[in-house]
Amino acid sequence: MISERLKQISNFINDDHDVADIGSDHGLLLVLLSNRNFSHEVLGVENKIGPFSNLEKTVNKIAKNNFKCLLSDGLKDVKGNYKTIVIAGMGYSNLKNILNKDKNLKSREKFVIDCHTNQKEIRNLFYELGYKVEDEKVIFEDSIYYDVIKFEINNDNQTYNSLELKYGPLNIKRKDDIFIQRYNKQLYKVKNLCNSISNLERKKELELEIKELEEIIK
Ligand SMILES: C[S@@+](CC[C@H](N)C(=O)[O-])C[C@H]1O[C@@H](n2cnc3c(N)ncnc32)[C@H](O)[C@@H]1O
Repeated sequence: MISERLKQISNFINDDHDVADIGSDHGLLLVLLSNRNFSHEVLGVENKIGPFSNLEKTVNKIAKNNFKCLLSDGLKDVKGNYKTIVIAGMGYSNLKNILNKDKNLKSREKFVIDCHTNQKEIRNLFYELGYKVEDEKVIFEDSIYYDVIKFEINNDNQTYNSLELKYGPLNIKRKDDIFIQRYNKQLYKVKNLCNSISNLERKKELELEIKELEEIIK
């Protein structure tokens, strides 16, 4: 069964650009795009031979001229016509490395990102590269919360405060059930921890975190 997380990533891909999926693994996202008859170019990229051979099999099975794959590192060989870039299932430092080495960054219009950690750093990194959050959604799957974020060029010079960078400007505004559930759980954990410790300095830090979480979910 294809995951809700991948379905959300696919939903964030518009039908108007060539798309490159960096770190495609088995190419399941490509299958979703093929199933919806995506008509632009789709490129799956893998830098390891094992996952690449799975990706190649998937692309051969899809058997459409606009679906291709590449054994390469990050965005190194991904031409400027690929204006939508997907990077999912990687850590923050790998993501940052891939972006920093992209010679065609100026041509990229949209990024769909699903990194499992460092959400504040990710939003800040894209902000500094000239992008803003176009859409975002929290997905709960296999007992893990995933942040799927879609970035677009920041034409109107949108700025963010620290809470918006950490929790997501649209998440805070919309307060979806899954978002509220996630931080209610976190609040419960932090409160329990705060009540159980005696170190005053740590207690103060936790009290600040409680205040922040209460602010976010109210
Ligand atoms: C955990 S999998 C995620 C697969 C898929 N994107 C998903 O979200 O389900 C990460 C994949 O990224 C690939 N990868 C890691 N660094 C990469 C890089 N610099 N260039 C291309 N692929 C990379 C790995 O080989 C691995 O197959």
